[in-house]
Amino acid sequence: MKLSIKDLDLNGKRVFVRVDFNVPIKDGKVTDDTRIRAALPTIQYATSQGARVILASHLGRPKGERVEKLSLRPVAEHLSELLGQPVAFAEDCIGEAARAQVEKLQDGDVLLLENLRFHPEEEKNDEGFARALASLCDVYVNDAFGAAHRAHASTAGITKFVAQAAAGLLMQQELDYLGRVINNPEHPFVAILGGAKVSDKIAVIEALIARKVDRLLIGGAMAYTFFKAQGFTVGKSLVEDDKLETAREIMQRAESAGVELLLPTDHVVVDSYDPLKSKKTIPIEFTNAGHVGVDIGIETIAHFARALQDAKTVIWNGPMGIFEEKELGFDEGTVGVARAVAEAADRGATVIVGGGDSVAAVTQAGVADRITHISTGGGATLEFLAGDELPGVAALNDK
Ligand code: 3PG
Repeated sequence: MKLSIKDLDLNGKRVFVRVDFNVPIKDGKVTDDTRIRAALPTIQYATSQGARVILASHLGRPKGERVEKLSLRPVAEHLSELLGQPVAFAEDCIGEAARAQVEKLQDGDVLLLENLRFHPEEEKNDEGFARALASLCDVYVNDAFGAAHRAHASTAGITKFVAQAAAGLLMQQELDYLGRVINNPEHPFVAILGGAKVSDKIAVIEALIARKVDRLLIGGAMAYTFFKAQGFTVGKSLVEDDKLETAREIMQRAESAGVELLLPTDHVVVDSYDPLKSKKTIPIEFTNAGHVGVDIGIETIAHFARALQDAKTVIWNGPMGIFEEKELGFDEGTVGVARAVAEAADRGATVIVGGGDSVAAVTQAGVADRITHISTGGGATLEFLAGDELPGVAALNDK
């Protein structure tokens, strides 16, 4: 059990809180603030305890250089609106700019530091940089579950140079829900995986099979690698040809473990999607050499929904089609699954949704508040579900 922010005496302390404010920003405005909202309980708890809160995050991948459009300044403004109090901003995360702002803080104030990744030392987990960050604070809290799979200076290195390193409330909630899925799922346990590549999900699939998931539902482009591995025609659909053998092994492993592996039975195909030509829904076995699969079909949505009927635990990660290209209308499968998992939650199942597109789909379908837990992690959620120890968690003090 890791030390919690609730175990710390925060009153009058400078508290460095690593958050994951890696959010989409367009024209200087935050376009999806899910991750910022998810960090509010920790920030508000700290301010209510009289802490001087120093927030730090990365944004995008600026490769160790200052990139203006990856500045966290718009996030400070957005956060200030959400908190209903001013949020100061430091032009740099270390050095004089940061120190001067920290010195101005009064109890209950909040400061956001500039993007950690403007310094190459952050991703290198550089000791000097970690010390410089640590020198700003009295205690450290990691609430950045989404970045916990990174062994960086602000997530790992810093913990060696602070008096106490504890988990924030979001971090604890993520570890609690995802940990229960891994260690103690209520059965029937159903996992729905989608997305473009099997290669991104192999470790998770293996872990789920080993942990006796009852049903594994696979959609998205990764399904085509399984279809091709079985000798089906997949046309011009996305396939990982170097993973055909892996797909066969997964199918065999699922069968020997008694895991029901469900693939789509029908799909939406086009002849081309730029420009959009001949969109139709057909059974998988009718696919010809000219078709590109872009979404699961209506029969598959129903078939997946039936597989969730008696579920007690559901985990969903990854879209069922090319969800993100809104104007093309290939989002029906993903939105259909979002509705089906919400219905499973209404029937009492613990439903966990993770990954950017799946989370966007539950929001788009208007069912986000019916989901038991929406994970803020992308890669972090997958690595955790695969059974890996996350460096950002390992580095925290034990209770
Ligand atoms: C994410 O968006 O998954 C996290 O913020 C981690 O970002 P990264 O993949 O750039 O390290």
